Amino acid sequence: MSTELVIKDLHISVEGTPIIKGLNLTVRQGEIHALMGPNGSGKSTLANALMGHPFYEIDSGKVTFDGIDVLELESNERAKLGLFLAFQYPTAVPGVSMANFLRMAVSAVRPGNSNGNETKLIPMREFRKELRTKMKQLGVDESFARRYLNDGFSGGEKKRAEVLQLAMLEPKIAILDETDSGLDIDAVRIVGESLNQLIGPNLGVLIITHYPRLLNYIRPEFIHIMLDGRIVESGGWELAQLLEEKGYGPIREKYGISEEVLANDGDQDFLSSLRR
Ligand SMILES: Nc1ncnc2c1ncn2[C@@H]1O[C@H](COP(=O)(O)OP(=O)(O)O)[C@@H](O)[C@H]1O
Ligand SMILES: [Mg+2]
Repeated sequence: MSTELVIKDLHISVEGTPIIKGLNLTVRQGEIHALMGPNGSGKSTLANALMGHPFYEIDSGKVTFDGIDVLELESNERAKLGLFLAFQYPTAVPGVSMANFLRMAVSAVRPGNSNGNETKLIPMREFRKELRTKMKQLGVDESFARRYLNDGFSGGEKKRAEVLQLAMLEPKIAILDETDSGLDIDAVRIVGESLNQLIGPNLGVLIITHYPRLLNYIRPEFIHIMLDGRIVESGGWELAQLLEEKGYGPIREKYGISEEVLANDGDQDFLSSLRR
């Protein structure tokens, strides 16, 4: 049976304000879902809460991963189950190379490698071999592994690092929040093309995005539109096309949600919320 992530009637608040207001969604291994919605609709709140960020209060509802209650687990335990959440990596870490970082990250989630707080590192030769294979598959230059993590990375390189991490961790289900509205066309293409390399029967993806253009590369089979903390429409590729053509206006009108309600300070990413 394939793994599934099931979100049931989830309610999440931020500092006492309800943001996610009854969200239902199931993502199975092998399925590609896109969650789209205007700024402020709660997309990042959902992603951050799923990764276990303490700032987000789960008021009610359930999230299970093959029946296991995810909300009861620490972030690293979620990762060990096979749930990948982007922003699992820190910002710039001078002195830690991509290769070393990935070796630690992969060692920590591989079954049998860690017990309690101790993580046994995967043997160097074995790891190198695997890393080389994955880098080749994704078309990443070998020198990339020697670079310090995120240190002076361009937007596109950060994305390559993220997708390389995804490739190495081999999760069953990945949630990717494309918070970075400033991504240039090149970075969007990199994410799109390299994600395509990884997509297959063993990987389920929930890609969260504001912009339809990324989806052109990935062509998700399931599109969900989020407004004011709820998924208001689910469908196929035609929904993404509708957004591309008409924007969120007609959907807002249909559900009686004005732009004022959604106005906020834009994309709240995980790191900026940590700094508060
Ligand atoms: N860390 C935070 N601090 C304060 N408000 C937040 C925080 N995270 C989210 N919010 C609020 O939650 C709402 C949804 O934001 P967000 O989840 O970032 O939406 P999206 O990712 O869809 O743009 C906004 O009104 C935003 O201001
Ligand atoms: Mg966001």
